[in-house]
Amino acid sequence: MKSARTYDTVVGSDLSEQIKAATKDSHTRAENTQLMLSYQRGQISMSQYKVLLCSLYEIYRALEDELDRNSSHPGVAPIFFPQELARVEPLERDLEHILGADWRKKVIVPAATHRYVQRIHEVGKEKPVLLVAHAYTRYLGDLSGGQVLGKITQKSLGLSSDKGTAFFSFPGVTSPNRFKQLYRSRMNSIELTEEERAEMLEEATAAFELNIQVFDDLQKMLSVTTATEDESNNNVPAAAFPSSRIMQLTVGVCVTLATIGMGIYAQ
Ligand code: HEM
Repeated sequence: MKSARTYDTVVGSDLSEQIKAATKDSHTRAENTQLMLSYQRGQISMSQYKVLLCSLYEIYRALEDELDRNSSHPGVAPIFFPQELARVEPLERDLEHILGADWRKKVIVPAATHRYVQRIHEVGKEKPVLLVAHAYTRYLGDLSGGQVLGKITQKSLGLSSDKGTAFFSFPGVTSPNRFKQLYRSRMNSIELTEEERAEMLEEATAAFELNIQVFDDLQKMLSVTTATEDESNNNVPAAAFPSSRIMQLTVGVCVTLATIGMGIYAQ
């Protein structure tokens, strides 16, 4: 990784510029994950959207818990905008709409989401100022490309903004571009030692990496589910598949083992 001093010379000394430069390659890699490519092709499926919402819910619950708990910390207070940005409540409404009243029992996330959540809690407890890197990666992303993803979700799945896609809409933000400017200037106002600045850039890169791993795990999870669905939907005649019962059991056991192996857990 380039040092914070290198970014000083190349892009100036503002944290907002340095963090953008430091995560440029990671952003490109995140855009090129299978899940984000499906989005860019306008081909998001309901299964993809459901698992994505579940993971976002766990991620934002951790992030907003830690931001709330550290809201008066001098390194966090300038970027603390719960009224404008909080995502847990819209995610709860979306999950209820999409998974039904008992949605809490149906939230399933892969191991990578678990790791992301753990990292956010670690940072919140050990070095709260680095929460800025996590908040930047998610909120500024949601206010940028995220706005387009919201429109694609509505169009692909026939949902409206108040029913199932509240996550993408920020009623407390009149102009995303102006708000992003304000957010950047607040980031730039945080006093950091040179060491902390370097850690911040590293943490932002790690936050992008965690997002990429979540998207990759979600895609793997979906291919397991789709394989099971295909298995039960294909109408192969019994005569052509004499041991179909045994096969079904074997597939079931394999899927269960694969699922446990990936560290998926339901709440
Ligand atoms: C389909 C996928 C994506 C597309 C099309 C996309 C597109 C964009 C665009 C057009 C911008 C605005 C750039 C600017 O204003 O200069 C942006 C900014 C940003 N995106 Fe993405 N993005 C995607 C995925 C992601 C993901 C997965 C993350 C992180 C989890 C992310 C995080 C960010 C951040 C933090 C910014 C703000 C950069 C800054 O101004 O400092 N994006 N994105």
